[in-house]
Amino acid sequence: MPLIPEDVLEQIRLRADIVEVVQSYVPTLKKMGMTWKACCPFHHEKTPSFTVNAGRQIFKCFGCGKGGNVFNFVMEMEQLGFADAAELLAKRFGVYIPDPVPGQFAGKKNESFPGQVIYGSRERLCTLHEKIAEFYRRNLLEHPDSPVAAYFKTRGLPDDIAARFMIGAAPDAWDSAIQFAHKNGFIDDELRTSGIVSSKEDGSNHIYDRFRNRLVFPIWNEQGRIVGFSARSIEKDPKGWKYVNSPESPIFRKGRLLYALNFARTSIPKANAVILCEGQLDTIAWHRAGLTHAVAPQGTAFTAEQAMILKRHTQNVVLALDNDSAGHEAVFKDAAILLPLGFNLKVALYQGAKDADETLAKFGAEALEKTAAEAVDFFEFALTCASQKYDVSVPSGKSAAANDVVRWILQLDNEITRDFYIDWLANKLSVSIDSIRSVVQRRSLGGDRFQAQLVRQEATPGPALKKPDKSMDKALAVLLQLVCCSKEFAEAASRDLPPGSLGSSPVAKSVEYMIQTAMNDEWDGKCDGIFNRLNQTGEDVSELAELLSAPLMPLGCAGQDGQPASPQENTPEYEAWLASLDDFRRSSYNSCLRSILNHYLMQERARLIDKAKNPDVPQEERNAAVLRITGISKELLSLSEKYPVK
Ligand code: UTP
Ligand code: MN
Repeated sequence: MPLIPEDVLEQIRLRADIVEVVQSYVPTLKKMGMTWKACCPFHHEKTPSFTVNAGRQIFKCFGCGKGGNVFNFVMEMEQLGFADAAELLAKRFGVYIPDPVPGQFAGKKNESFPGQVIYGSRERLCTLHEKIAEFYRRNLLEHPDSPVAAYFKTRGLPDDIAARFMIGAAPDAWDSAIQFAHKNGFIDDELRTSGIVSSKEDGSNHIYDRFRNRLVFPIWNEQGRIVGFSARSIEKDPKGWKYVNSPESPIFRKGRLLYALNFARTSIPKANAVILCEGQLDTIAWHRAGLTHAVAPQGTAFTAEQAMILKRHTQNVVLALDNDSAGHEAVFKDAAILLPLGFNLKVALYQGAKDADETLAKFGAEALEKTAAEAVDFFEFALTCASQKYDVSVPSGKSAAANDVVRWILQLDNEITRDFYIDWLANKLSVSIDSIRSVVQRRSLGGDRFQAQLVRQEATPGPALKKPDKSMDKALAVLLQLVCCSKEFAEAASRDLPPGSLGSSPVAKSVEYMIQTAMNDEWDGKCDGIFNRLNQTGEDVSELAELLSAPLMPLGCAGQDGQPASPQENTPEYEAWLASLDDFRRSSYNSCLRSILNHYLMQERARLIDKAKNPDVPQEERNAAVLRITGISKELLSLSEKYPVK
């Protein structure tokens, strides 16, 4: 990725209004007095602590601590590096990024940025998908007698809908997409990255078209760029894969993407709800029926990340999953994600058909409208399911049903709603409110509440850790210099660093060694003793040696090169210099501690999340893990306060 010239960055910055950009991702952003506010898109919250200051063109979340300018926002939102975020903004605001070294790049020019080709860039990967989508589309239209076109006709989709959703046909060939992409100047690496091709697993470089002889649905991201494909077999009940999907790529993150959200995003606020269905064809059926606020996850189960994306648009979800046992199970799986995040949930039940597509085909658009309008409250649905399992006319059946439904009441994020449903359930089962309350109490000692907490934790990614290993390496290197500089830092490190937080690299072991010498009152500022230990275990000490022989600048360690000449001793300037040096070292120490603890806590958090989700681990241990995760999240957020850096 070439460097983007300073003046171009400046142009992007001036043109990309942060309010406009944030609003395109967070439609709920509202002006309140001098600032703009919304619930934070980066963590789960009920009252807005995410603010945008239009005058200063910055954003800041007082909940999770994230903040910065428009570039940081896009980087965080799209999980991009700086250059990619700049490129995305440049494209959006019509800023031309010139070729930094004219003529340096061979190959075809990129039409979006004439004069410059950044192979494999996000922009090119999107363009590649868009061109291939047009290619598939033309192929469907131009070959009305092909087997794919014949299958397409049986699906009964009108032309305008097929055009809007850009439905196409992948030719029955191994290299037609490859040929087309080559003609348009794309290189094999880009085809591999995009997933439009598959590679042979024999280690050769051979590639072939992933989608062949299938009906193809392009997948858009929320901003309306095509980032992947889902391709249906043309058999009615296929024996092999019914759908072949694009694999994950830098622009296609399945867990963060909802099909048709690019179309639905303007309808969702109008409908004040989103319809969540199972697949492309169901989504399209809803849109055909005029209910354009329908979306679907794409080739994965619904995730907490997707829920957080929906949260930016609405609090109200209508689950419209297939009317079969798998669909009903999925309702509960999705509810386990949505309820803890504060959504209001309804369940739509298709009557006399298995899904939206079939409902539309059999009974027409009104039937889908009716299905949506008659969606039942999730708790109603849960109670109906329980009533089918147990005989709720007898006490033991009431108790079992109450137990089932209370499980869901405990997922609710809000005490008032929880109370409301406790009353409601008591009423429905004709039992006392107190008896439901005691079930709530008993169950809340079990895993339910913790499970809900876990979902919230997962929906709230910790502070981003960019290039974890590099920043960790650098922090360790500086920390080693500091603990060699002064016993005070070695002692501080022994207090501040939990065991195991440094890792096991030679540099980490050297820091540990210095800490030990300080604790044993043997500290002498020399680190050479560590080499013997490392040599005994046969570790590679070359990097450590290089590090320790480099000048320990700019930390101002005694006798080192590269530090500013100190003023004459015993003068006021000398005192001031010492004080500033002290400040600088302290600041460096804090910065190291932040990186190291951030890295360590993020790892711990990931390990504990795995543990908490593992059904083989006893429930008590899983609950303890969730509690610890919550603690870690707090620690992560307090790092910058605890270790201030000037
Ligand atoms: P369904 O099997 O319910 O397909 O899968 P459908 O949408 O009803 O399609 P038709 O009407 O039978 O043609 C629902 C969704 O699950 C994903 C797809 O996104 C699909 O739209 N899926 C399904 C896959 O990714 N791979 C598969 O093999 C099957
Ligand atoms: Mn289906």
